[in-house]
Amino acid sequence: MKLVVATRNKHKMEELHALLASWPVELLSALDFPEIPEVEEDGATFEANAIKKAVTFARATGCWALADDSGLEVAALNNAPGVYSARYAGEPANYPANNAKLLRELSGKTDRRACFRCVIALSDPQGHAEIVEGRCAGHIITALRGTSGFGYDPLFVPDGQTQTFAELPADVKNAISHRGRALQAAHDRWQELFMTRGAGSPAHKEENPATPSRGRGFQPRGIAARFKSPMKNNRQRTTNN
Ligand code: IMP
Repeated sequence: MKLVVATRNKHKMEELHALLASWPVELLSALDFPEIPEVEEDGATFEANAIKKAVTFARATGCWALADDSGLEVAALNNAPGVYSARYAGEPANYPANNAKLLRELSGKTDRRACFRCVIALSDPQGHAEIVEGRCAGHIITALRGTSGFGYDPLFVPDGQTQTFAELPADVKNAISHRGRALQAAHDRWQELFMTRGAGSPAHKEENPATPSRGRGFQPRGIAARFKSPMKNNRQRTTNN
């Protein structure tokens, strides 16, 4: 069974290969489908962007598809930069400029709380999607520290640590990061789905009332239950429209 990851980022693919090693899936990436254009991340939420990417790739390829969207929310800035994290200081995306803007915006503020969020969406080939999320809470310091990582890492100290993400070893960051937690949640939540579903089986079982759906179909649980469709057939939020 093929699972397409809607990313052209090789680093993300390596992380996924390691984490999903036990799944009986053949992982493909957006690089395997150059004919599919870049999906514009114009949603107002991480959820909307992740679902849009996953559904676009699932429908275009006829395979199951996985996509993520992540960013930083800062309490004193009404959760900015949020979905605009990559281009906070404008186009083109620029990490030093983003960090400089964040420090400017927080100048003089005592509330430095911030939270990294990562949402991962999984879509079946028909475009029915559900999500999991990982969060990492911490605070923004007043000057850059550390050289590893990327993005806002040199300014972010996670709760329970004294070093920034850019100072911590990569394995420590990965174990507690929003992305690490979201990937772990994805693994926990969807492993069974891929273990029990054979290649080529229909995306949904409810067409056949004799088939028990719980634990076998694509049913709402936990966070994803927020996206439960108002339709009576118990499908997840659909993005067919
Ligand atoms: P993406 O959705 O994973 O591409 O992340 C969007 C933006 O959020 C990135 O360009 C970074 O600015 C920021 N970001 C996401 N995850 C991290 C992280 O782990 N460390 C630092 N910045 C991050």
